[in-house]
Amino acid sequence: MSPTNPRILPYGAAAIAEAAAVIRAGGCVAMPTETVYGLAADATDSRAVAGIYEAKGRPSFNPLIVHVPDLAAAERIAVFDEAAHDLATRFWPGPLTLVLPLREDAGIAALVTAGLDTIAIRVPDHRAMQALLAAAGVPLAAPSANASGSISPTRAAHVAASLAGRIPLVIDDGATPAGVESTIVRGNRVLRPGPLSQADLFRGEGRGPVTMQPETGPRPSPGSSEGVTAPGQLASHYAPGKLLRLDATERRDGEWLIGFGAIAGDDTLSASGDLIEAAANLFDALHRADAGPAAAIAVAPIPETGIGIAINDRLRRAAHPR
Ligand code: TXA
Ligand code: MG
Repeated sequence: MSPTNPRILPYGAAAIAEAAAVIRAGGCVAMPTETVYGLAADATDSRAVAGIYEAKGRPSFNPLIVHVPDLAAAERIAVFDEAAHDLATRFWPGPLTLVLPLREDAGIAALVTAGLDTIAIRVPDHRAMQALLAAAGVPLAAPSANASGSISPTRAAHVAASLAGRIPLVIDDGATPAGVESTIVRGNRVLRPGPLSQADLFRGEGRGPVTMQPETGPRPSPGSSEGVTAPGQLASHYAPGKLLRLDATERRDGEWLIGFGAIAGDDTLSASGDLIEAAANLFDALHRADAGPAAAIAVAPIPETGIGIAINDRLRRAAHPR
């Protein structure tokens, strides 16, 4: 492919029509969602899904999230109990992924679930992804649109830099509003913290995030999802290329300091100490720090509350990549 790949088209009817044509032809397209940009392909077409794994260089045991337009479409793919139905009704469309039993007649390619008997599914709250779902008429598997192991993309330019020469098309609809990946829930347990906190979801009654599974840890046995947390929570999942120091209250020699609140830094996640703003800026700030001249990155302390839990989760993974 030429170095101008991928093409970046601004969101609009023509762009969505072109993206849907790529999906129908079995290709993959990068699309914004309310969390991060996703790399979407037809979830019912195993060759198309294989194309996602190939473009990302992603280990094939790592299952993907399926995106559908609404709860009715989700119920054709997964089995909802009352609690799951309640969560879906309260938070969809939105940054909530439910891990549920996969229906046998769902028609989802086995590669999507990596052989598990459960599926991770969500209804995105973004006009571009919703427009593509409507135009393509199929469920879309979509992991974050970055090369496996690198920082998630919150802008079209991040996608283009990470997947240059590996995908044909990015739809650009600006920066993603939430900025961190969806909260993943199984039963009453948060598998991956995200924009919706445990308190939002369970009114204080659920269980906290499970400890992440190390890269060297046990792999899920085929056909069973028992004991599987969120296998994509590999330690290196969000790593920038540089050393990262957390809870930094000042800049040390050779560091680029990402501030928060009263700690100003070279850049800031939120000068006013707003956690929602900080989440929206997080990956962009890490991309900037990674691309800049400083040898190492430091990040100011982030309060461990609300979406701050998701921010700290991503920062810890970036700081301890192995
Ligand atoms: O916000 C998001 O969730 C973004 C946007 C694009 O929708 N997508 C995203 O996908 O973050 P991805 O593939 O990067 O992360 C999917 C996560 C991984 O941690 C994966 O292991 C987990 O979901 N997962 C998928 N299926 C699962 C299952 N059946 N059981 C447990 N975890 C599962
Ligand atoms: Mg990812």
